[in-house]
Amino acid sequence: MRILKKISLRRKENKNSGKEYNGAIPQLRIDILRRNGLDCEPFWQSFEYTPRDISETVASALTRLNEQEELQDINGNPAGEIRWESSCLQKKCGACAMVICGKPMLACDAVLMELKQPVRLEPLRKFPVVADLMTDRTVMFRNLKEMEAWLEDKAEPSEKKNAFAHEASRCLQCGCCLEVCPNFMPEGRFFGMASMVPSSRILNWESVNQNPAIKDQYRYHIYDGCGKSLACQNICPAGIRIEDLMSRSNAAAVWRASSGKKSRGM
Ligand code: SF4
Ligand code: SF4
Ligand code: FES
Repeated sequence: MRILKKISLRRKENKNSGKEYNGAIPQLRIDILRRNGLDCEPFWQSFEYTPRDISETVASALTRLNEQEELQDINGNPAGEIRWESSCLQKKCGACAMVICGKPMLACDAVLMELKQPVRLEPLRKFPVVADLMTDRTVMFRNLKEMEAWLEDKAEPSEKKNAFAHEASRCLQCGCCLEVCPNFMPEGRFFGMASMVPSSRILNWESVNQNPAIKDQYRYHIYDGCGKSLACQNICPAGIRIEDLMSRSNAAAVWRASSGKKSRGM
């Protein structure tokens, strides 16, 4: 009953498509920016697709298209398997992040009928494209390693710190925040919120023996480069309270850090 209520609400709130769904679900067009490999030119390919129901997601549509024995594009030409990544299909792993109708989103969280038509799918633009909608997001993990965000000893968090740590632990490493960040470049010195959020967890556990380098790393790779527009917070599919984590991390690494210490490169 509750699910039906949610679906009918979604129908009313569907402002993007501007269509009424009284009964039959219309056939949609899905445009996909495809690329066969790293050095290949991208090209658009369109597919016709009829959702099974009004709550079907982009992830489900991609799975069903790939299940077709002989996948054909909108012109009846044979099309190869659409390459994309997924794991949990429950908004928990971040693997299925891609640009959907111009916005970075999780494919398993993007409801087809709520999207602007035609539905346009592109790979994330800040990372090298492996094939079709798959990107190589290694840089996020390399940056995390460079942040040296680890403990030197066991943690003894208070209840208050536990809530903070839990918020920081919700990062999916999806890269959506980096996609919209004007200051993040894959090879640049600014690491963005995909590094700030997990690091904030370590920075704020005051009763533990932190790796002493982390405050320096934070100032150099996060604090110095962030314009604080919070575009990243608005796009985060996990809904992480980035502003809160950032202000407390700034306090720990900058304002309360040892007096007179300056950032690297300043
Ligand atoms: S902060 Fe949000 S948008 Fe950025 S990587 Fe983590 S979950 Fe994704
Ligand atoms: S606040 Fe602005 S500059 Fe800082 S990480 Fe978010 S989008 Fe980028
Ligand atoms: S498949 Fe895990 S978040 Fe979408």
